[in-house]
Amino acid sequence: MSTTELAIEAAGLEPLQLTEHQACLFELLITYALEPSMGFDADYPLDSPAPYEPGARLALRDGFNERLGVLTVTACAPAGDGYQLHGSLQPIMRPRWRGFETLRLTAGEACERLGPCIAWVPAPWPTREEAVGAAQLAFEDGLPIVIFVPSHLPPHVGLPARVRAAQAAAAETGAEVVILPMADPALLDTALTHYGARRRVASGGAVVFDAVEAIRRAEQPPRTEQGFCLWFTGLPSAGKSTIAAEVATLIEERGRRFTFLDGDVVRTHLSKGLGFSREDRDTNIRRIGWVASEIVRHGGVALCAAVSPYEATREQVRSMMPAGQFILIYVATSPEVCEARDVKGFYAQARAGAITGFTGVDDPYEEPLQPSLRLDTTSATPRANARAVMEFLVQEGFF
Ligand code: ADX
Repeated sequence: MSTTELAIEAAGLEPLQLTEHQACLFELLITYALEPSMGFDADYPLDSPAPYEPGARLALRDGFNERLGVLTVTACAPAGDGYQLHGSLQPIMRPRWRGFETLRLTAGEACERLGPCIAWVPAPWPTREEAVGAAQLAFEDGLPIVIFVPSHLPPHVGLPARVRAAQAAAAETGAEVVILPMADPALLDTALTHYGARRRVASGGAVVFDAVEAIRRAEQPPRTEQGFCLWFTGLPSAGKSTIAAEVATLIEERGRRFTFLDGDVVRTHLSKGLGFSREDRDTNIRRIGWVASEIVRHGGVALCAAVSPYEATREQVRSMMPAGQFILIYVATSPEVCEARDVKGFYAQARAGAITGFTGVDDPYEEPLQPSLRLDTTSATPRANARAVMEFLVQEGFF
């Protein structure tokens, strides 16, 4: 079957959308960078949220819904929250990664163009110590040096900056640069072998090249220029929005701008139509979290105030941002006090049975296990709590 015919068939098959990490594995498999056979197997299974019968044919798609290939399932087993699939692959195309296309060689292309080589995998900024190690191995083996930049391995520093740093180091040392589609550290050595690496330089060292240092500084600004997300969680009427608004004022006084994402407000546009089932609440929280993470990624300040009753979902939001830039603030007002305040009258309605599934009355609220701050709203005013938040931000180096 030609690739065109396969693409036509794939249009009618049940789709399975791959994450970027899975697309990396897919690319390594279809370019024979892991093993001579092509497919997901016990060594390289594909995680799936849903089970599929053996024999099922699925259209694998990337995040932009491009058809990458067809998977014929041979086995399916429960694993964690979902399932793991094995199956054979018929590729349609390589994932279309954007940026530095000419550096994204397949294993075959790398072997053909560069031949056997010494692999230098910076971690993540190329250092002079690594360069010396590479030169030593290159001299011993009479082989060229290739700087391999894994696309998706931690630490998660922006790929463009890492590639430009690799290019700066390559210019100083005469090395080549190749980007690897790589999201799993356990696969790195196997893939490097297929990319022609005979030996690998030890990573580490403290001294980076001057040109690399300039790129690193632009990529990793000081704390005072980094973004952060203040996430206020607590029962309805706990005082989340009130304290967040006070914090917003203090942040402005310090000369920074902010975006305020309040649950009640977000539910009038971004989350319009969502209700209060667990699933809808989780969707709402993940949407707020996604927007906040984009703001933080661009160095901005996001203030989020939402009941966010589930620990697992809050932690999911935490994982969307760099460590330390998601700050969970528990507005720990007791259910009795919240109900007595009942600023919007919802508690009364819930008690009267006019609404059901109201947090704190007949719907759960899971207290945060490890909040950065826990605020008491009966003994402290909103202004005093806002000052406590600012003190924490100063301590953390954001101001
Ligand atoms: S969350 O659970 O998804 O985080 P969110 O903070 O967006 O909730 O919205 C909570 C607000 O919606 C409350 O402050 C209240 O004004 C209103 N609301 C209406 N129905 C409910 C309900 N069943 N449970 C909680 N809040 C509700």
